[in-house]
Amino acid sequence: MNRFEGKAIIVTGAASGFGTAIAEKFATEGASVMAADIDMAGAQAVADRLPGAMACQVDVADEDQNFAMVQATLDAFGRIDVLCANAGVPHRGNYMVKVTTEEFDRMWAVNVRSIFLGAKACWPHMDEGSSIISTASIGGKRPRPGMTPYNASKAAAIMLTRGMAAEMAPRIRVNCVCPVSSPTNFDLQAMGTQNLSPEMEASVISGIPMGRRATPEDVANAYVFLASKEASFLTGVCLDVDGGRSIQ
Ligand SMILES: NC(=O)c1ccc[n+]([C@@H]2O[C@H](COP(=O)([O-])OP(=O)(O)OC[C@H]3O[C@@H](n4cnc5c(N)ncnc54)[C@H](O)[C@@H]3O)[C@@H](O)[C@H]2O)c1
Repeated sequence: MNRFEGKAIIVTGAASGFGTAIAEKFATEGASVMAADIDMAGAQAVADRLPGAMACQVDVADEDQNFAMVQATLDAFGRIDVLCANAGVPHRGNYMVKVTTEEFDRMWAVNVRSIFLGAKACWPHMDEGSSIISTASIGGKRPRPGMTPYNASKAAAIMLTRGMAAEMAPRIRVNCVCPVSSPTNFDLQAMGTQNLSPEMEASVISGIPMGRRATPEDVANAYVFLASKEASFLTGVCLDVDGGRSIQ
């Protein structure tokens, strides 16, 4: 299907994990993709594989760099139809009182300030029918020990989504996805290990009724649906991509 032919999509955090899958899925559906990431080499490698895609370097926590990302997209494609505000970082999993203030501030800037800045930079250039989608987390709705500041940042992403949806309707729809745990580089940063031990993996999966962790493709499918015409009446939706984790 070419549902996004002629549309221009910005994907932040495109060099890895969910962002790469989101960029790939939109490109498969005919979109022109701006692969944006703090890791320029990684973003370029993704763009090089996708027809008509471009790459740019951005630190999503920085205001000027958000405006530069938007300008680069307008220069390349002449329009912006969807901002996928996906880039985010965990802090190293730990009880909250052991998370350093520096870790907290940086994580909050990358996960929350980025959505505020990305939306501010994009909205003047977005026409009727465009949308902003961000990657929150099921942890933003259902806490558990060890990731409290991170989960709070994702609760903030959820509230930003709902508030922006109310403010930007009917011109721009604003939604987010709330994934459950997925084996991306995120694990490496949160737990210091890329491959969970079999015991840890089993423990995570035991809390997911569908019996597995999320894949980047699960998240990309939700993004494309939320951006599509089929979702044209959906705004302020925080879509759980969690295999039933939140009902367990
Ligand atoms: N993997 C999970 O278990 C999981 C679950 C729920 C939500 N999430 C969220 O999904 C999103 C994507 O994470 P992922 O799992 O694909 O992780 P990942 O580490 O594989 O990818 C994150 C990407 O974001 C980029 N990035 C980091 N800081 C940046 C910055 N300041 N500016 C621009 N780019 C930056 C990284 O370079 C990387 O390419 C994040 O918002 C994360 O919080 C992840």
